[in-house]
Amino acid sequence: MVTRRAVVTGASSGIGEATVRDLRDRGWDVVAVARRAERLQALAEETGASAISCDLTDGDAVTALIGEIGAAGPVHALVQVAGGARGTDRVEDGRIDDWQWMYDVNVLATQRLVAGFLPLLRRAAAVDGHADTVFVTSTAAQTAYPGGGGYNAAKAAESMLVKALRQELNGEPIRVVEVAPGMVHTEEFTLNRLGGDKAAAEAVYAGVDDPLTAADVADVIGYALNTPGHVNLDLITMRPVAQSAQHLLARGALRVRPEHED
Ligand SMILES: NC(=O)c1ccc[n+]([C@@H]2O[C@H](COP(=O)([O-])OP(=O)(O)OC[C@H]3O[C@@H](n4cnc5c(N)ncnc54)[C@H](OP(=O)(O)O)[C@@H]3O)[C@@H](O)[C@H]2O)c1
Repeated sequence: MVTRRAVVTGASSGIGEATVRDLRDRGWDVVAVARRAERLQALAEETGASAISCDLTDGDAVTALIGEIGAAGPVHALVQVAGGARGTDRVEDGRIDDWQWMYDVNVLATQRLVAGFLPLLRRAAAVDGHADTVFVTSTAAQTAYPGGGGYNAAKAAESMLVKALRQELNGEPIRVVEVAPGMVHTEEFTLNRLGGDKAAAEAVYAGVDDPLTAADVADVIGYALNTPGHVNLDLITMRPVAQSAQHLLARGALRVRPEHED
């Protein structure tokens, strides 16, 4: 049995960190990537993953990252989780810096990683049968909402990149999987989006029974990567039961509708 090796970005927190744990539990070798070296180091010590600090918006740094990872072994999977949102402004009030950041980290970093890792993924696929890519986009890529414009646009762009990539790789044994979560209660995502306002961030999740957790999303990523190599889960949209649609979020305990209720 080949031990497969995955590169997981966004590994210093939230979904990426949970994905490192999940894949390690499933027996994968994992390279954990994000900017914050201390958090990565702690995760590496705990899980046995290796850790490399890198700013994915810096082209030279990504080139160095790919060189270092390629020199140390094969890459069977790229799991691109790094990304995020800044601001909830209306389109007319949007701050260009926020929009630029969202495009850089969600879209251009993804393109850079695909371009850089594909030669390594092809090499691994040629030897071991197949290789994989997984991208965490969002339900925000599918449905716009007021105040979501910059994030909607960036995640929709990332999602389109993924869909184009899957077609470009047709005929090669390389899977392209998109995971699009709805509300996930992670420690930093909303906090960063709302400029560090803790009370406002907590209010987003208040009374929701229950938002997805990072581990829920990681479990789906792990599942997708561990299906037989000919099975491509193109797009997995996942939400908490309490969020039936982007705008339809139940707050308060979920309860069965009593019989005979009008
Ligand atoms: N939470 C949600 O409700 C939700 C829902 C749908 C989709 N998503 C998507 O899921 C992904 C992860 O979300 P999350 O909730 O886990 O958020 P998170 O906890 O804020 O994680 C974001 C990760 O991205 C990394 N990152 C940010 N900028 C980077 C850069 N320039 N270079 C390298 N790494 C960078 C961060 O690490 P460093 O700061 O250490 O670099 C961090 O590890 C994102 O793509 C997000 O858009 C989240």
